[in-house]
Amino acid sequence: MISEKILNLLKENRGEYISGGEIGKYLDLSRTAVWKHIGRMRKSGYEIEAVPALGYRLLSSPDLLTHAEIAAGLKTRYVGKSVHAFSTTDSTNTKAYELALHGAPEGTVVVAEGQKKGKGRLGRKWESPKGVNIYTSIVLRPRIAPSSASQTTLLAAVATARAIEKTAKVLPDIKWPNDLLVGGRKIAGILMELDSEADMVNFIVLGIGIDVNMDRDSLPPDVAKTATSLKEETGKVLGRVILIQELYRQIEKWYEVFRTDGFGPIITEWERLSIMGGKYVKVSFLKETREGVALGLDTDGALLLRLPTGKIERVVAGDVMMVR
Ligand code: BTN
Repeated sequence: MISEKILNLLKENRGEYISGGEIGKYLDLSRTAVWKHIGRMRKSGYEIEAVPALGYRLLSSPDLLTHAEIAAGLKTRYVGKSVHAFSTTDSTNTKAYELALHGAPEGTVVVAEGQKKGKGRLGRKWESPKGVNIYTSIVLRPRIAPSSASQTTLLAAVATARAIEKTAKVLPDIKWPNDLLVGGRKIAGILMELDSEADMVNFIVLGIGIDVNMDRDSLPPDVAKTATSLKEETGKVLGRVILIQELYRQIEKWYEVFRTDGFGPIITEWERLSIMGGKYVKVSFLKETREGVALGLDTDGALLLRLPTGKIERVVAGDVMMVR
């Protein structure tokens, strides 16, 4: 906690020196204690310059998804204010679900450098190599019926696309219901899980995986065919801390819109980002396949398809393939 406070002071004074005496005064510590903390921070990857008579200056921070790094400079009111950070975990969704069952407040987040049992939609596996991507889950407690819960996955898709656009300067396309693609390959996915009574949601866990600095050839060949990462697309290594902070900001922003004005504005934004409008698509779910022209979203987030017969059908789950 103290190292975190020292880090905040160094970050607030970025580019300038702050003396051990000043840090000590703010935090009620001796200069020697400050020095010891600085030593520990250097060991965990912070580059801190120390100049006699001037003090300390932060030169660089490691791109680690730790509580300290995420907290420093996070511009939200409640999303990400409580962070549970793991080096490796089974699945951040599973952890967040357990925390929520034990009363974790709205906005609690779980983040991990790597996952051993990363979960994808429809019971699939989510490849989760360590130290290169973002795996995070957010607990929300909207007062909505379970039938409306899937609307929050579309909200998360919009927020994730906008966070990627802001930080990586690449705007992903959204494919229904919540795949984010760049150049036709998947860059991020969302898995929503919920706990509810018959007519009211207790909590929702929004799990978001973003492929950031992963090399495509580190993936199993079948996944590498359809997946990509921000580094593959931009040629640059992207700071994961900045991206996750922006992600939490966008989630809070769009969740506030959802709470105040309902699902309408989310649909409008989702349709702006979607590549599907007017395209001929095939949707498969379990053993059924439907084909038709994607018209957009229904008021509850279902996909509206115009079948070859002219009939309009609502699709609530499945995998979409774009035919033409
Ligand atoms: C999909 O597109 O199939 C959804 C992928 C969701 C992956 C994320 S990574 C963080 C969170 N924890 C999980 O186990 N899954 C989600």
